[in-house]
Amino acid sequence: TKKILILTGGGDCPGLNAVIRGVAKRARKEKDWEVFGTVEAFNGVLNSPQEIIKLTSRKTAGIHVKGGTILKTTNKSNPLKFPVTQKDGTVKFIDRTDELVKKLKALKFDAIVNIGGDGSQKISQALFEKGVPIIGVPKTIDNDLSATDVTFGFQTAVQIATDSFDKLVTTAESHHRVMIMEVMGRDAGWIALHTAIAGGAEICLIPEIPYNIEKLVRRINLRYKKGRGFVNIVVAEGAKPQAGSITSAAGEKGSEHVRLGGVAYQLSKQLKDAGCNAEIRETVLGHVQRGGTPVAFDRVLATLFGVKAFELALEKKFGQMVSFRNNSITSVSLEEATRDYHFVDKDAYLVKAARGLNISFGD
Ligand code: F6P
Repeated sequence: TKKILILTGGGDCPGLNAVIRGVAKRARKEKDWEVFGTVEAFNGVLNSPQEIIKLTSRKTAGIHVKGGTILKTTNKSNPLKFPVTQKDGTVKFIDRTDELVKKLKALKFDAIVNIGGDGSQKISQALFEKGVPIIGVPKTIDNDLSATDVTFGFQTAVQIATDSFDKLVTTAESHHRVMIMEVMGRDAGWIALHTAIAGGAEICLIPEIPYNIEKLVRRINLRYKKGRGFVNIVVAEGAKPQAGSITSAAGEKGSEHVRLGGVAYQLSKQLKDAGCNAEIRETVLGHVQRGGTPVAFDRVLATLFGVKAFELALEKKFGQMVSFRNNSITSVSLEEATRDYHFVDKDAYLVKAARGLNISFGD
């Protein structure tokens, strides 16, 4: 019998369970394969054997509709930079890859499927270089990986953001207000841009196109003057003003802003300071964008990624990451997969079309 190990690392994302089930179902078809999962990514291996669980068909039945991950996840299991708290309370980061490779060898897995974002795939690459038979599956709601045209979780996040946006439109309209809705995306504006187009926003602010606050205020005031007394803004958590345009810069490091209370609040203050007289309200969507059941597209993509990951294992094509390119499920080397990010190109058709729909980027 051969053994395959699945793990989920980094932030969770709708579709993770669909990948797990896809790998497991496809593997079971081969009869001589057994499927295992490890709790909290590589922590489960480092704490093995008690945190390695057998994924029986009962354990994976019907999980594709559930959000989160049945295997749990953490941002604190990176074997390349493993956090260790010192006696004085400070945290030191150590490399535990050699220890991990030893453990994996002792556990005798024929293949490992690592489902995770950019950080997780860098770990996959490092382990592959040390001889571990590993395959990557890309995961992120941010859609910012360059080696795949799309990642599962993204459509679900856009759907959740669009549903919320639609709700904010009716209340903005009733109160003649400016509504600012902040979405996730780290340093990429994909969720914001797709939500702005789907929802019909007046303004969309993304990290790739720094905004000018004066221009935004002019645009808002003009709309009120024309008698359209409300404005809906979608702002990506990583959005930032043009250099020198304002002193209290919003959005230098995307992911930190959710924790700081949101770019939405900073933008609100900037608008007021720059002379926007309308009433402004802020909504920070946060982790709601990562929760709940994946939409059908993400379920299909995630399931196919799972099936493909197992097939790569069967063919012993290790050091690869599954990917969706030009409308087909394929794979790329982990080395290529971890080289680049994929950001919104300010000259791309998507941006041009949005401008054509009179969506302002504030530039
Ligand atoms: O990468 C996914 C993501 O949800 C980003 O959009 C966001 O910036 C970040 O993770 C939030 O991280 P955490 O869950 O650690 O707060």
